[in-house]
Amino acid sequence: MSSTTQPSNPLRVLVFDSGVGGLSVAREIQRRLPGLPLVYASDNGFFPYGTKGEMELIARVDLVIRRLLALYPADILVIACNTASTLTLPHLRSQLSLPIVGVVPAIKPAAKLSQTGVIGLLATPATVARPYTHELIREYAPHSDVISLGSSELVEIAEQKLRGETIDENTIARIVAELMQREKAHLIDVLVLACTHFPLLKEELSKHLPPKIQLIDSGEAIARRVDYLLEGKLMDEGSSLDNIAVFTKKTTEAERLGKALESFAIQKIHYLDLN
Ligand code: DGL
Repeated sequence: MSSTTQPSNPLRVLVFDSGVGGLSVAREIQRRLPGLPLVYASDNGFFPYGTKGEMELIARVDLVIRRLLALYPADILVIACNTASTLTLPHLRSQLSLPIVGVVPAIKPAAKLSQTGVIGLLATPATVARPYTHELIREYAPHSDVISLGSSELVEIAEQKLRGETIDENTIARIVAELMQREKAHLIDVLVLACTHFPLLKEELSKHLPPKIQLIDSGEAIARRVDYLLEGKLMDEGSSLDNIAVFTKKTTEAERLGKALESFAIQKIHYLDLN
């Protein structure tokens, strides 16, 4: 990977995920920085990330990011995926010269927020198993009890929701119940949504969770970080660049996301040729 990434002119952010999950992060960035153009990139050709091996995922993210930055120069790269961030950040940072913001499980704020010291962690199976996640817990929540559950089904359900399909509420209820049963004393008072797909299902998850449980994710913190990195360079009058969604594979599923993308002010859809 070349380290001579060109900054874009005008400013632009590249937000990357395996699928639609990163849109939950894009939403927070748009809320904080409404005039900032974005390229939203979904590696749907390799979705889902949460079940992939470490070496193949590092190689894939390297390839896709390199191609994306060559075609869509950006000032900041946001890896809006916990599964990719908890694995690939050191590699990406060693290869690229632009600022990279990664999304990692919000363990630190959760430990601060919890009154009971018992925190739930909902993520992909890969993120739950990552040494990086265990290190975060050791460092920022050493006195908390962290009850985790890895689910790929929820990732798929979030994708279905954004395609406008009917989603299976029973599966959501079952997954929530499974997590809650792992902590018999019912002390969980904060639940970390450590997969960017899951904030897209906040309403549905809340329906099946005890009302005392607060849900937290990293989206807002990422938007703050992007804002800080832009050093006030974003002009008030808006940008001439369009928001673009880029998919790594042309599928009917991707085509059905048009309406959801419009709600993020993304009107253009491109497909990336990785050959
Ligand atoms: N949205 C991603 C995350 O934050 C991963 C979903 C997947 O592809 O498994 O972990």
